[in-house]
Amino acid sequence: MENPRLFLVAGILLAGFGVVAAVLQGDDDGKQFVYSGFTGSNVSLSLDGTAVVTPSGLLELTNGTAQLSSHAVHRTPLSLRSSSPGGGVRSFSASFVFGIIPPYPDQSGHGIVFFVGKADFSTALPSTYLGLLNRANNGNATNHIFGVELDTIQSIEFKDPNDNHVGIDVNSLESVAVHPAGYYDDETGGAFRDLLLISGKAMQVWVDYESVSTEIRVFLSPLKNGAKPSTPLVSARRNLSEVLVDPAYAGFSSSTGTLRSRHYLLGWSLAIDGPAPLIDIGSLPKLPQFGFGAKQALSNVLLEIVLPIVTAVLVLSVVAVVILVVRRRSKYAEVREEWESEFGPHRFSYRDLFLATEGFKSKTLLGFGGFGRVHKGLLPKSKLEVAVKKVSHGSRQGIKEFVAEVVTIGRLRHRNLVQLLGYCRRKGELLLVYDYMPNGSLDKYLYGGKDDTLDFLDWAQRFRIIKGVASGLLYIHEDFDQVIIHRDIKASNVLLDADMNGRLGDFGLAKLYDHGADPQTTHVVGTMGYLAPELARTGKASPLTDVFAFGAFILEVTCGRRPVELSMDDGRLVLVDWVLEHWHTESLLEVVDARLGADYDYDAEEVVLALKLGLMCSHPLPGARPSMRQAMQYLEGDMPLPELTPTQMMQSEGLDSFIQLSEPSSGTISGLSGGR
Ligand SMILES: *[C@@H]1O[C@H](CO)[C@@H](O)[C@H](O)[C@H]1NC(C)=O
Ligand SMILES: *[C@@H]1O[C@H](CO)[C@@H](O)[C@H](O)[C@H]1NC(C)=O
Ligand SMILES: *[C@@H]1O[C@H](CO)[C@@H](O)[C@H](O)[C@H]1NC(C)=O
Ligand SMILES: *[C@@H]1O[C@H](CO)[C@@H](O)[C@H](O)[C@H]1NC(C)=O
Repeated sequence: MENPRLFLVAGILLAGFGVVAAVLQGDDDGKQFVYSGFTGSNVSLSLDGTAVVTPSGLLELTNGTAQLSSHAVHRTPLSLRSSSPGGGVRSFSASFVFGIIPPYPDQSGHGIVFFVGKADFSTALPSTYLGLLNRANNGNATNHIFGVELDTIQSIEFKDPNDNHVGIDVNSLESVAVHPAGYYDDETGGAFRDLLLISGKAMQVWVDYESVSTEIRVFLSPLKNGAKPSTPLVSARRNLSEVLVDPAYAGFSSSTGTLRSRHYLLGWSLAIDGPAPLIDIGSLPKLPQFGFGAKQALSNVLLEIVLPIVTAVLVLSVVAVVILVVRRRSKYAEVREEWESEFGPHRFSYRDLFLATEGFKSKTLLGFGGFGRVHKGLLPKSKLEVAVKKVSHGSRQGIKEFVAEVVTIGRLRHRNLVQLLGYCRRKGELLLVYDYMPNGSLDKYLYGGKDDTLDFLDWAQRFRIIKGVASGLLYIHEDFDQVIIHRDIKASNVLLDADMNGRLGDFGLAKLYDHGADPQTTHVVGTMGYLAPELARTGKASPLTDVFAFGAFILEVTCGRRPVELSMDDGRLVLVDWVLEHWHTESLLEVVDARLGADYDYDAEEVVLALKLGLMCSHPLPGARPSMRQAMQYLEGDMPLPELTPTQMMQSEGLDSFIQLSEPSSGTISGLSGGR
């Protein structure tokens, strides 16, 4: 061996040139050294066979070629013998970090041996013999070699316990002591943990020889922070003074058999008469990840990166699905209570209504009814066209009563009533399902000035609608098994079916609002101009308050004007008063809707009948109004309209004064929806 100091200087020079220089530290007098990575180590290491130092600083003992062996030997012989004459072998301690990249996950061969002794491997064999010995000299005391084998093949002839063991070898590959690979984990109170030598992961080994006790102890551990387990994996007593002769070298031998494994060293240190110097774990090169190692790395990646991501994605999708289901459930959530079971057949599922109206999209919106939006829908199963009215209600108070009423209303069958098919209840929301009326509401025809596409209604049509509404009202007041008050008769609540028949809609909704969620806002509901004076005063609806509104309705249809209109001159036109005035002046036909024809292209007798009946019905005194049955008889001509004198027809001062009194300065009338 050449002068080691020269190489050290060369190493320092190399380092000075910015090259990662030899990592060899310490006095290289054969007493102590450390390799933390092997870059530049060809200075102090002698390599043979397939052994090379890779650019990253790994000492690659075998390179994936079969049936080869290699050696890496520290060039300087160890100063093992004590200087006293006939001195025995001194204590020494070595440590190294290795890694085995197997060609298959569960198979590799053959292994690595750390040795101290005679370094003549000219006749050594690969494979089972680990590049250390051969068939003939195995077990021969002349070998003068001590080794620690990391054996990954079970060789029966050497009594190997398995294919993953650590053994102490003295001149022979039949170990003097052997143990399956593993370690006693100090972190868990010394519990034994298996280690797989061919895991592709770096592991650390310590080999201690204590000269006084002649005890050899071998420790194995996964590569952590360099901490040595306190309990050896395998130990033996052998007086190495009787085994080793000078010059004794330290090094590694490795071999492959038929399996193309790769054996690597990452770092190594040794000291005579002292603990092995610490290897700088942080600066060790990384094990390569190819061959199976790449697969292993891939599976590591799978385990450590992809798996968490996949898990996270799975968890997220489960959460998303749950949210979707919950949202879907809440989207279609209904309120359904015990007492409703008796109304079963009238109950619609919210889901059906949601689907029917395409999720209550604005394109299905028919309009804003008296109490909520009305959507057109097509029921999914029956393909029946319906109108769905969404009525919000604040509290559940009175809702039971109201639903009962809805069901009652649902029992109403009359060709002049919009058929209520059923209902659905959600939190704070009531959905009423009606027959769909293709021609919309009457008010659009009366005041549809802006919309020229709507047909103009001639007198005959109007009269038929008036009679129809009267017939519908008569039915609910008198011909049904209980008296039902409509409460909100007006042109916008009269709908036209396909044959332009007038049909009353929106029954009893006013009552829902009378039940009122909020007692503070309990108010008379109805529409200004249709509101009977006594209803405004007492809030008590009766068939006669319906008759009053019906009167206003007749005048509205005949005159084509709203019951209360704002006009330029006096600010307000109360239709009843205006008609009454013309009756006084016997110019009744002047109030008729001008669009009905200047040439009086209508049945004047019918028109006058309608106007007079309208005035009668809108009489401020309830007692002076006819019942709906009488009104019907007058309309049908079954009974002549009683000849009333204009003085009998009192001024509708009640209404007038009511309006004056209740009108706030701003001009809006609380509790009343504007006549339309
Ligand atoms: C060590 O390796 C370097 C470059 O790889 C080479 O130039 C040098 O000659 C080698 N030294 C020995 C002693 O093999
Ligand atoms: C392995 O080393 C042997 C001997 O040095 C060489 O012949 C072979 O090409 C090497 N194989 C690889 C894959 O590097
Ligand atoms: C084995 O040892 C004996 C002496 O014990 C020696 O004669 C023989 O040559 C050795 N064999 C080998 C192969 O080294
Ligand atoms: C080990 O062997 C040497 C040489 O035979 C001897 O001098 C020494 O006392 C032995 N040590 C022990 C602990 O037996």
